Amino acid sequence: MQRTSGHIGERRRLASPYPLGIVAAQALRRRRFQPPPSQLAEIMAKSVYIRTYGCQMNAYDSARMAEQLGLYDYREVDEPEAADLVILNTCHIREKAAEKLYSDLGRLRPLKREREEAGRDFVVAVAGCVAQAEGDGVAARADLVDLVIGPQAIHRLPEMLARNARARGQEIDVDFAPVEKFDRLGPERAPSAPSAFLTIQEGCDKFCTFCVVPYTRGAEVSRPIAAIEAEARSLIEGGAREITLLGQNVNAWRAPAATRGIRANRDGSWGLGQLCRHLARLDRLERLRFTTSHPRDMDDDLIDAFASVEVLMPFLHLPAQSGSDAVLAAMNRGHTSKHYLGLVARLRAARPDIALSSDFIIGFPTETVSDYRATLGLVEEVGFAAAYSFKYSRRPGTPAAAAPKQVPEDEKDRRLADLQSLIERQRKAFNARQIGRALPVLFEKAGRHAGQLVGRSPYLQSVHAEAPDSMLGRIAPVTIVGLTPNALAGRLAAA
Ligand code: 5AD
Ligand code: SF4
Repeated sequence: MQRTSGHIGERRRLASPYPLGIVAAQALRRRRFQPPPSQLAEIMAKSVYIRTYGCQMNAYDSARMAEQLGLYDYREVDEPEAADLVILNTCHIREKAAEKLYSDLGRLRPLKREREEAGRDFVVAVAGCVAQAEGDGVAARADLVDLVIGPQAIHRLPEMLARNARARGQEIDVDFAPVEKFDRLGPERAPSAPSAFLTIQEGCDKFCTFCVVPYTRGAEVSRPIAAIEAEARSLIEGGAREITLLGQNVNAWRAPAATRGIRANRDGSWGLGQLCRHLARLDRLERLRFTTSHPRDMDDDLIDAFASVEVLMPFLHLPAQSGSDAVLAAMNRGHTSKHYLGLVARLRAARPDIALSSDFIIGFPTETVSDYRATLGLVEEVGFAAAYSFKYSRRPGTPAAAAPKQVPEDEKDRRLADLQSLIERQRKAFNARQIGRALPVLFEKAGRHAGQLVGRSPYLQSVHAEAPDSMLGRIAPVTIVGLTPNALAGRLAAA
C-alpha cells in the first residue's frame, strides 16, 4: 500500500474540477483508434473470465467490458482455468485492496506458467480502482500482468488487447477521461436483465477525509442526457423494466436542460430530479432508482421527484457516515446531523412510505463515546430499512490516515457490534411490517427451489414466491407471508 500514497498525491492534482464543457471538448478531440472487429478476430483470445470486486459501478464496468468483448466473439466463462483472458476488476474502498489483488494474482501465476509452457495465451488484465491508484506499480510488482486499465479507460480494452497481442509487452492505461469513455462505449447493449444498471455520473469532488474515491475515480463528471436516454432505450428494448442510475455521487449529476415541459433550474441546467422526470416518460420503463446520493446534493426538485414521479421507487440510499457534527466536520462531509434529519423529514413528507438506507463509519479518528452515541441517536431517530456500517480503516494518502487520534481497534469492534445490532433490529422490524401487505414485485430470476422466482419489492427487499417462469421480467402483486433471514417470503396475489 506504500506505493499508493505516492500515486494519491498525483491524483489530487489531476482531480481538479474542470468545468464540464472543457472536459467534454477535450474528450471529443481525443477520439482514438479502435480496431475493427474483423481485424482483431484472429489475434484475440476467445474466452474471458471477469472477477468483479466492490460496488455496483464496478459491476456495471464489468458488464460493459464483457459486452465490448462480446463484439469480438469473446465468450464469458466462470472460472479462470477456462479463460484465455482474465480481468480482475478491483475495488479500492476496502482495506488491503492492493494486497488482495496481489494475492489473487499470485494464484493465477501457475496457470499462466502452464499456458506459456503449452505455447498458449493467458492474458491477465487488472481493471478498476486499484489499477487507477497503483498505475504502473501493478505491472512492476506483478510481472504476469499484461494490461492495467483504469475505470475511465475500459472502452480502450479491445485496442489494448490487440496491441498486446502484437507486442506481448505490458500495457498501461489509467487516464482520466470519463466523458470519452461514455462516448466510446456507445449505447449498444446485450439483452438486459429485468433490472439493469446505467452509469450516468462518475467521480467525486467531495474529498471526505477518509475516502480514496476522489483520487481513484477522479473529478465529478456527468454523462450527457442524449447518451443516457439512448442507453436507457436500448436497455428497455433488451427487456429491462427497472433501471438503476449509477454514480459515485449520482445526485451531483447536472446537464444543460434537454426538453421543454420539464422546468429547468435557474441556470438552465437539469439535475437528477429533472432527469428522472425525463426518463420516466420512456415507454415500458416501470421502475427507476438511483444510487449513491450525497446529502449535500439532495435538492428540492429531487425530493419532489419522490412525490411526483410514479416510476421512481420509494427507496433511497443516503449515506450519513456519522451522527456527530464534530465527526462530520472532521470527515469534511459538508453536512450536519440536523441537515440530514431535515432531509429525511422532507423526503418522508414527499413520499410517506419511503424506505431509507445509509452508510456509517465507526471509530473515525477523534470519535469519542459521545460522538458515537450521537450516531446511535441518529439511527434511532431515522429508523432505517437497511444500513451498512464499517470500522474506520486508514487509506494511505487520505488526510484522516495521518490523524494522531486513532480509535483503538477493540473499542471500534465494540462500537461497531452495538451499532450493527441496532441496524439489524431496524431491518427486521421493517421487513416484519410488510407481512400481510401485497407488494408489487418485479421478478428477476429463478429461486433456489424449482417453481420459485425471486424479485424485488419497491423497497429493494428480495422476495421469493412460487411463480411460473413466464412471470420473469414482470411486476405482480405478492402477498408477504413470512420472513427468511435475508428476504421476504410471499404468495402471488390472485390476479
Ligand atoms: N474506512 C471505512 N469505511 C469507509 N468507507 C469509505 N472509506 C472508508 C474507510 N476509509 C465507507 C463509507 C462509504 C462506503 C462505500 O464505504 O461509509 O459510504
Ligand atoms: Fe468518498 Fe465522500 Fe466522495 Fe462518497 S462523497 S465517494 S465517501 S469522498
